[in-house]
Amino acid sequence: MRIFLTGASGYIGSAILGAFARAGHHVTGLVRNSEKADQVASHGGVPLIGDLRDPSSYRQAAEGHDAFIHAGFDGSRVVETDRSAIETLIAAARVGDPGRPRVVIYTSGVWILGHTRQPAAEDAPLDPAAISAYRPGHEQIVLAAAGEGLRTAVVRPGIVYGGSRGIVGDIFRDAVNGLVHIIGTGENRWPTVYDRDVADLYVRLALHADASGVFHATDESDERVNDIVEAIVAHAPNTPDVRRVPLEEARAKHGPYALALVLDQVVRSPRARALGWAPTLRSIAGNAARLFEEWRAKAV
Ligand SMILES: NC(=O)c1ccc[n+]([C@@H]2O[C@H](COP(=O)([O-])OP(=O)(O)OC[C@H]3O[C@@H](n4cnc5c(N)ncnc54)[C@H](OP(=O)(O)O)[C@@H]3O)[C@@H](O)[C@H]2O)c1
Repeated sequence: MRIFLTGASGYIGSAILGAFARAGHHVTGLVRNSEKADQVASHGGVPLIGDLRDPSSYRQAAEGHDAFIHAGFDGSRVVETDRSAIETLIAAARVGDPGRPRVVIYTSGVWILGHTRQPAAEDAPLDPAAISAYRPGHEQIVLAAAGEGLRTAVVRPGIVYGGSRGIVGDIFRDAVNGLVHIIGTGENRWPTVYDRDVADLYVRLALHADASGVFHATDESDERVNDIVEAIVAHAPNTPDVRRVPLEEARAKHGPYALALVLDQVVRSPRARALGWAPTLRSIAGNAARLFEEWRAKAV
C-alpha cells in the first residue's frame, strides 16, 4: 500500500511511519526541511519536503497514494493549516480511477469530548475543550467526504506515551530535572495510549476495507494524573519535587492548554477493539520503569 503521511517527523506521525514501514508499505512523509527528511528516510519512509501552510507544495505529490493520513500539527496556525490539509488530502484522494479504493484518516483527539462523567465511546456527545473547538467541524469535513470509492476515518488518540516526546515525555524530563508540575488537584483521569499501539490502529484502519467513521484509541487504564506522576517520580534518579499549580495560575501561563490538562476523562475504544486492535500497554504507572528506559534511550 502507498501511504501519504503529514507530520511524518512528529510524535504520532513518526510512530505511524514506523508501523507502516515495518509492515512493508511505502510511506511518503511530508517534512519541512532536509534534517527531518533524513529522519524520515532513516525510519524507512520517502521524504517529501513541503509545508502545510502551502498546499501547492505537496498536493500533486500526494496524488496516486492509497491512504492519506494527516498527523501534522502546526501549533502557530492550527485551525487554518489543519483545515487546508484535510481539504488538500481529500482532493488528492479523489484524483484518479474512482474504482481504486482510497482512505483518508484524520487525527483528532479525545479533548473533543470534554469531561466524560460516564465512560465515553465513539458515539458520546461532544463537548470540546476550548483548545479543540475547531475539531468537530474538521472531523465532519472528513466524515462527510466519504463515498465514491473514498473511505474516511477519524482517530481520537488519548494522551500518547512512549519514547521521549509529548506530555508524558515532558513529565519524565521534569522528573529527571527535579521538579514536576501538576495542574489542578491531579485527581482527574487522563485517557492515554502507547505510541506504538496508536500507530498500529492506523495500519489496521488503512488495511481494513470496511473501517470508517470515528475510532477512539485509548488503553482504557483510566489512570489519575497523581498516580502517573507518583509512579514516574518513584523511578527518577533523585527524588524530584512535585508542585501542584492552581488552575487559574496555569491558565494565565498556558491558556486553554491548561484547561485540557485538567479534564477528567474516561474514554473507551470499542470500535477500534472491534477491528481486533488491542493495546499492548495498558498503564503508564504500571510500566513506569520500562517507559523511563524508553525515555532515556530517545531523549536528546
Ligand atoms: N501527542 C498526543 O498526546 C496527542 C494526543 C491526541 C491527539 N493528538 C493530535 O495528533 C496530532 C499530531 O500530534 P503530535 O503530538 O504528533 O504533534 P507533533 O509532535 O508536534 O508533530 C507535529 C508534526 O507536524 C509537522 N508540522 C508542523 N507544522 C508544519 C508545517 N507548517 N508544514 C509541515 N509540517 C508541519 C511537524 O514537523 P516538524 O518536525 O518540522 O516540527 C511534526 O512532524 C495533532 O493534531 C495533535 O493534536 C496528539
